Amino acid sequence: MAIGNLDLTQLDKSYMTEEQKSLLNVSNISQKEIEQLLIMRGQVQDFQMMMMKYDCALSEVRTKLEVLNKELSLRYNRNPFESIKSRIKTPVSIYEKLKRKGIPFSLENIQDNISDIAGCRAICSFVDDIFMLADCLKRQDDVNVLVEKDYITMPKDSGYRSLHLIVEIPIFLTDKKESMKVEVQFRTIAMDFWASLEHKMKYKKDIENADLITEDLKFSADLINQLDRRMQQIRERIDAGDGTPYSMTPTLEERKASDETMRIIKREILAEQRALIDENDD
Ligand code: GTP
Ligand code: MG
Repeated sequence: MAIGNLDLTQLDKSYMTEEQKSLLNVSNISQKEIEQLLIMRGQVQDFQMMMMKYDCALSEVRTKLEVLNKELSLRYNRNPFESIKSRIKTPVSIYEKLKRKGIPFSLENIQDNISDIAGCRAICSFVDDIFMLADCLKRQDDVNVLVEKDYITMPKDSGYRSLHLIVEIPIFLTDKKESMKVEVQFRTIAMDFWASLEHKMKYKKDIENADLITEDLKFSADLINQLDRRMQQIRERIDAGDGTPYSMTPTLEERKASDETMRIIKREILAEQRALIDENDD
């Protein structure tokens, strides 16, 4: 049994009980079972050390965001962040994510293939705060941006909007410096509201007309986007001390959303008419 390597495909199965062998292919592995697996491989300490390093990197990023928030609130008398949430991925989700990608569970594979073990979510008040804060973070000389995904300018097909950065940040240990990856998501309160509800609802898989639900969720995401833009314009008018409304020329997205509203209203009217006809038929 090779110690120092968690690659389960390399495991010498002759040492294992039937129960241990079955652990290698389960889809619903428990925290306890992962612990057993790590004990079996003599990897408990290495795994804990790795998780500790991600946790430290997460604290570093969180502190950086909190420092920016404090400075900006003092300067502009308002908090650009509504809240900052952070989490470390559980061993079970790490295991499942690797499994989904078809990659064996090993320390090396975890570090090379999963970039959201340490995750931080900054919920901002306004869309322009997102880009301003992300730029401040990106400019810091110990932050190395590995990936930037701008799902605000280019929303996902689901309607999902957020700005994602995968950054690499150094942590200083007793005898060395190590770079760790952290995923930072920036969203407005409205984007977070949509993403949280959509995420919860996605788990209710066995529904009829799932495509209509997807369509309605996408439509709601577009409404939320209009709301974000409008709130930002209101703030800009307040900041400028001028209550005059800007001319709100609808964007292409807004025009699409309004066409979509008409389509949905028409669909609902049709459904009501059909229901009435059915009732009269009875
Ligand atoms: P994951 O493997 O799920 O982490 O996604 P990925 O590597 O394809 O990266 P992506 O940037 O697309 O998504 C990263 C994270 O963004 C996810 O883990 C979710 O937290 C969030 N996310 C992405 N797409 C959606 C979506 O359609 N709905 C919701 N609610 N969240 C999403
Ligand atoms: Mg993720």
